[in-house]
Amino acid sequence: MQKVASLPLPSADALDASAALSTCIGDAIDAAGGWIGFDRYMALALYAPRLGYYSGGAAKFGRDVRDGSDFITAPELTPFFARTLARQFAPLMGMDLPRVMEFGAGTGRLAADLLLALDDEGALPDTYQIVELSGELRQRQQETLAARAPHLADRVQWLDELPVRFEGVIVGNEVLDAMPVRLFARHGGRWHERGVAHRIVGSAGPHAFTFEDRTLPDAAVPEAVRAMPGDHDVVTETHAEAEGFARAVGAMLARGAAFFIDYGFPAAEYYHPQRAGGTLMCHYRHHSHTDPFLYPGLQDITAHVNFSGIAHAAVDAGLAVAGFASQARFLMNAGITELLMELDPSDAGAFLPQANAVQKLLSEAEMGELFKVIAFTHDLDAALPLAGFARGDRSHAL
Ligand SMILES: C[S@@+](CC[C@H](N)C(=O)[O-])C[C@H]1O[C@@H](n2cnc3c(N)ncnc32)[C@H](O)[C@@H]1O
Repeated sequence: MQKVASLPLPSADALDASAALSTCIGDAIDAAGGWIGFDRYMALALYAPRLGYYSGGAAKFGRDVRDGSDFITAPELTPFFARTLARQFAPLMGMDLPRVMEFGAGTGRLAADLLLALDDEGALPDTYQIVELSGELRQRQQETLAARAPHLADRVQWLDELPVRFEGVIVGNEVLDAMPVRLFARHGGRWHERGVAHRIVGSAGPHAFTFEDRTLPDAAVPEAVRAMPGDHDVVTETHAEAEGFARAVGAMLARGAAFFIDYGFPAAEYYHPQRAGGTLMCHYRHHSHTDPFLYPGLQDITAHVNFSGIAHAAVDAGLAVAGFASQARFLMNAGITELLMELDPSDAGAFLPQANAVQKLLSEAEMGELFKVIAFTHDLDAALPLAGFARGDRSHAL
């Protein structure tokens, strides 16, 4: 386990939990004969019961290192993110689709603020269903809803499994990037799968995890990876789990629309020969780095989304792509600026923090361009305009 000098050390309890998780991952590696794919490592590091990053007690979401958090997401930054989504969702609620299903609801901020904003728009859903893998986050979501929207909290249900059929609006912010990825490395002109091995330092640990590459027959290398031009050294990822998830959403969505917001690119940009280092990224106390073996279970591990792969999987499952745009474009088309202007700019104490947060969502140098919104529909009037994609739709690039 490496340490990053200058970053706050985890508490003794957190280090104990990380050591327990490392033992559990080490056991999985031994049981598999000394090597596991990176996707398995990532799944355990993030979601192992009670010990994984999302299933355990890490603070995760927050503003800065002082609150022990690791990163901040759009719904945590400002309620104007949820309010703008509500503007997009309200007409759909009115089409006899008064249900929302949110995947990976984090602290519950988006759920609470969306319900409040939909209520303001006169478009309150009958039910707001949450699908969340982490019991710890489910608890936090209940607390947030009770504190921020107590009069609406009884509309919220947590699902343990997906229904066979759903009619309504589906939303997921930064969920696809949290799904395990496989890693592939080309060196010496040959493709390998990059997995994880370990050795135990000292008699009883700690575990030292290392990358270990295994050569693959060409036929076992996914097509998108094999097609990367050139023979220079490259590391990249594939997203079978996120694509399987998109297929499951496609199979379930009988009528309605699904919106996913995340950082990433279409395949041509994702597998561009110049993106030779891949997109694997870790977040610990608002510090981004590329070592997935730092404090297992105490830091986030993510990869950017290949939106073409998500689109193809969803279309295979029967959905239509309704639009694909940068987050900035989508939010501006859907009216974020008009909403912000409803605040009184002369009330600097109320206006400025929100204006700054909205600027962060929109700025090209921050979240505006790297983050994208993709939406799918099924069995909706083909003429239904989704305002968020009115200008700057890049579906053609998928
Ligand atoms: C980066 S957090 C984003 C949380 C929240 N949406 C936000 O924007 O603040 C990723 C979330 O996705 C959840 N998650 C990952 N895979 C999931 C899946 N297959 N189904 C439901 N939730 C999932 C995690 O448990 C976590 O709540």
